[in-house]
Amino acid sequence: MILPIVAYGDPVLRKVGVDVASDYPKLKELLANMWETMYNAKGVGLAAPQIGLPIRIFLVDTTPFADDEGLSEEEQKALDGFKKAFINAEIEEEEGEEWIFNEGCLSIPDVREDVKRKPTVRISYLDEDFKSHTETYDGLLARVIQHEYDHIEGVLFTDKLSGLKKRLLKGRLTSISKGKISADYRMRFPDIKKGR
Ligand code: NI
Repeated sequence: MILPIVAYGDPVLRKVGVDVASDYPKLKELLANMWETMYNAKGVGLAAPQIGLPIRIFLVDTTPFADDEGLSEEEQKALDGFKKAFINAEIEEEEGEEWIFNEGCLSIPDVREDVKRKPTVRISYLDEDFKSHTETYDGLLARVIQHEYDHIEGVLFTDKLSGLKKRLLKGRLTSISKGKISADYRMRFPDIKKGR
């Protein structure tokens, strides 16, 4: 089932997600719905707060990035078919010299900005079978994981911009929260007055 994606301005996007227990009700169904919602919106990642749940789950499938001609063959291979659910993730370490990538977010349609992040990340998480893993990622894979991880910490990529950039974007972000945008997927807007 395709779920509506929560738009910028909804308080759920600002909550620090809580851990999920292995007996969380209908977890398999929730994950299936999140995958369907993400693919429908042509995203490479989706976090539970974006469908209204302040819990520590996010999904990543970087396959669409594998076609990027600016990448080495090795990088393309790493991105192609990388599909994972991260449950109760904790970033252990980030390292390296910050690099810039132009990010977007399904909760903030039509806004793309350069964001600085460290290139390498070590993360612990549980997979869909609640098996625990600790892995190290870099490059674009790390980038997508860091962006989604921020969502379960209540952080959005626009928080990472300079004060000037934030001021310039303020009007557009307010418009998004009021539903004054068009996205080609279902969304839920916090500031649309009911019954109007
Ligand atoms: Ni996002």
